[in-house]
Amino acid sequence: MTFRLSFHKLAATVLASAALSGPLMAQDNNQNDTHNLYLQQCAACHGPDRLGGMGPALLPENLGRLKKSEAEKVIREGRPATQMLGYENTLNDQQIANLTDYIYQPPSHELTWGEREIRDSRIVNHPHGSLPDEPVFEVDDLMNLFLVVEIGDHHVTLLDGDKMEPIHRFPSRFALHGGPKYGPEGRYVYFGSRDGWITKYDIYNLEVVAEVRAGINMRNIAVSADGQYVMAANYLPHTLVLFDADNLEMLDFIPVENDAGDSSRVSAVYTAPPRDSFIAALKDIPEAWEITVEDEQARVRRMKSDTLLDDFFFDPGYDHLIGAARDGKHGIVMSLDSGETVAELPLPGMPHLGSGITWEYEGRRVMATPHFRAGAISIIDMDTWEVIKTLKTDGPGFFMRSHENSRYAWADVFFGPNADKVHIIDKQTLEIVKTLQPEPGKVAAHVEFDRHGEKLLLSIWDDDGAIIVYDADTLEEEKRIPMNKPSGKYNVWNKINYEEGTSH
Ligand code: HEC
Repeated sequence: MTFRLSFHKLAATVLASAALSGPLMAQDNNQNDTHNLYLQQCAACHGPDRLGGMGPALLPENLGRLKKSEAEKVIREGRPATQMLGYENTLNDQQIANLTDYIYQPPSHELTWGEREIRDSRIVNHPHGSLPDEPVFEVDDLMNLFLVVEIGDHHVTLLDGDKMEPIHRFPSRFALHGGPKYGPEGRYVYFGSRDGWITKYDIYNLEVVAEVRAGINMRNIAVSADGQYVMAANYLPHTLVLFDADNLEMLDFIPVENDAGDSSRVSAVYTAPPRDSFIAALKDIPEAWEITVEDEQARVRRMKSDTLLDDFFFDPGYDHLIGAARDGKHGIVMSLDSGETVAELPLPGMPHLGSGITWEYEGRRVMATPHFRAGAISIIDMDTWEVIKTLKTDGPGFFMRSHENSRYAWADVFFGPNADKVHIIDKQTLEIVKTLQPEPGKVAAHVEFDRHGEKLLLSIWDDDGAIIVYDADTLEEEKRIPMNKPSGKYNVWNKINYEEGTSH
């Protein structure tokens, strides 16, 4: 509080004296002046290079999801209940517009985030093994805990999945991205943030134990099946980074490029448990990588495809990778053993394979995926790789979820006028049997089941939102727990056992 006030007072004084020099300020729209204005007003929190500090990074890649007009509004009015105060009384309209342009432009010199920066960023609060092994709270079943990510004010809630009651709420890094990942015992969880921070959290002790910044703009992280390693996938710089899971010490730093030396962003990294490996999806070169760790070093195996791939799904045995082609019109099936493309799938409308799920249907395994650009769900036979059904929905969806013990699969409508609706699909008839509209006018999205498949949680994706508990069988609402824009929910048991109805 004191810092905020005094900082802004100081900034105002600096500005007032600058304003005295008159005409110079009036023509203040050249790059250099804006750069200096940024250094005076913003750098203390957002970093001199815009890499972030107490506030988030302000670089074009990182701001990708924030509309320019919204950024301008934030600069003008601030964000309520945060350190980001508004500048409407300190800066004039032109200055605010210039600063907005400035933060959406690439920096004048290339930013590096290499091995040294990563090592220097590491913070170890509690070295591995130094905290007690008993949970500091009481629940019946440690395997039925949930974490709920609240993106509205960057917090995480730990929830008892038997009683469906919050146990603890703690702040996260700015803009978590890609879903937290549990270690195999379900005690530690690793969060990744948009700006590249990996946070290791001890659920038993409710403490952040270690943090490290793996990149400038990160997509997601994966934890190896044995819990020994954490891998980070970055957009900026073009790297994959391997860490020891105990204390987040960096083990290997992998620039991502093809044989010709063209580099690529990494869309995502996944764990392939039966293969003891990681699989990385590359955004700018038509390859997928399988990475194994030997003597704490990453070994990369390249699998080439004919087309750029965006979004991945794996069959339960991790024999095949199903990737969405960048053209948004089809998918390919690649054998992970041979690296060959073995089938093509007609999947128009940008499938969101990352949230696909599988189940048994008439003695065979099927997978289902929503689409980003079409009001449809494709259901695919995983032996013949044929689309056996296309379900028409009320609009493009984002997430699908089910549970081995449940008859139903849930699919949200995430985009368009029906974004407040959720479809429930009978997994044996492949028909939509019910459509819910839990809170008219507010996006309803992302379902996660409890460990037993008996209850499930649905998010009302709004600052003034909630999670809703449903009975998975009767489909009746049981209760609402208010939350600040709850996005993903992550059940310990389902995630560490790679339950078929949830993404990994
Ligand atoms: C006292 C520290 C502080 C100062 C000074 C500051 N900011 Fe911020 N800024 C923050 C914090 C913290 C946030 C994140 C707020 C939140 O939780 O949403 C933020 C958020 C933002 C965002 C939204 C980013 C996003 O991804 O949502 C923009 C844009 C921004 N600041 C621009 C500026 C500009 C331009 C200046 C200088 C004129 C500035 N800020 C000065 C702390 C600061």
